[in-house]
Amino acid sequence: MSKILLVGGAGYIGSHTAVELLERGHDVIIADNFSNSDQIVIDRIEEITGIRPKSYFVDTRNPEFENVFSENEIDAVIDYAAYKSAGDSINEALDYYNNNMISLMNTLKYMQKYNINNFVFSSSASLYADAEIEDLPVAETYPLGTKNPYARTKLMGEMILEDFVVENKDFNCIILRYFNPVGAHPSGLIGEVCEDRPPNIMPYIVKVANGELEKLNVFGNDYNTPDGTGVRDYIHVIDLAKGHIKALERLMDNKIGIDYFNLGTGRGYSVLDLIRIFSEVNGVEVKYEVAPRRAGDIAASYADVTKAKKLLGWESELDIQRMCRDAWIWQKNNPNGYKK
Ligand code: WQD
Repeated sequence: MSKILLVGGAGYIGSHTAVELLERGHDVIIADNFSNSDQIVIDRIEEITGIRPKSYFVDTRNPEFENVFSENEIDAVIDYAAYKSAGDSINEALDYYNNNMISLMNTLKYMQKYNINNFVFSSSASLYADAEIEDLPVAETYPLGTKNPYARTKLMGEMILEDFVVENKDFNCIILRYFNPVGAHPSGLIGEVCEDRPPNIMPYIVKVANGELEKLNVFGNDYNTPDGTGVRDYIHVIDLAKGHIKALERLMDNKIGIDYFNLGTGRGYSVLDLIRIFSEVNGVEVKYEVAPRRAGDIAASYADVTKAKKLLGWESELDIQRMCRDAWIWQKNNPNGYKK
């Protein structure tokens, strides 16, 4: 089995990937500054799998980050380390460029120095910002466009990797473009840490359902979609984690240079669909009110997932009902995330 370093691995996607890797017998090392998580995540991963991953409380921008590489025989790296709020990035652009880009470049610098050549990069469907409804489902070949600094850090990350692969002939890299990750591990022990007023819809719905927030503002019902509200490709975080396992397997078994894969379900659900299904599955009311559109939002987005199915042997398995159920279990059990 392999030794896999998860940079930013204590976060939402990373922690769920750590569980899947450990359950498959891999060794896992987590390097994280815990800015968007808590060290209790390591305890929770151990509680789920019975194995405690090695972890480093480290900022990837500090020299101590090199210890992670000098102290371990690493076979592959998955990089999740990034600030990820599209909305927040508009007024925190420099922080986003500083954090997201320097972290990636330091990781690549140490991979080069310690001759580690298998890399999975966490990218985003927000690079398909120019896709119109007639372009859906959107494939990896669609021309990339961005609407905010967060998305531009992901686009620049992809460009850095394209140049890095030319410079380093043995480097093998898979870029995964996530659609909308939601849900949590069914144990209710790990999940998405979110703010008091979450920017993303599922954590917001959950907080309305459990009475922490009064109502959901539905950002526009006049889009060119079946019910006028925004349509997105929601994917269960466990399916997303499994997509990383398949990406690693492809990297370790093949010389591919660089390749890109959408990780979505290939299905779109509207905001009103999500509200209705969440209420039905969990037997709770979700109060909402139609509000003006949110700046930067697109009408609809959902993935063409044929490439991941064909070349990674991966497709999503968990349905929207399971996403809603698991999101509710996590939030009910952890109303303050990992804080007591
Ligand atoms: C989903 C839908 C909103 C909140 C973002 C990032 C993207 C990725 C996933 C990292 C839209 C509507 C939302 C609310 C609402 N993150 N909505 N009321 O914007 O598709 O993507 O998260 O990679 O980069 O941009 O997700 O959950 O914010 O919105 O009506 O209070 O829900 O208009 O149609 P989004 P979201």
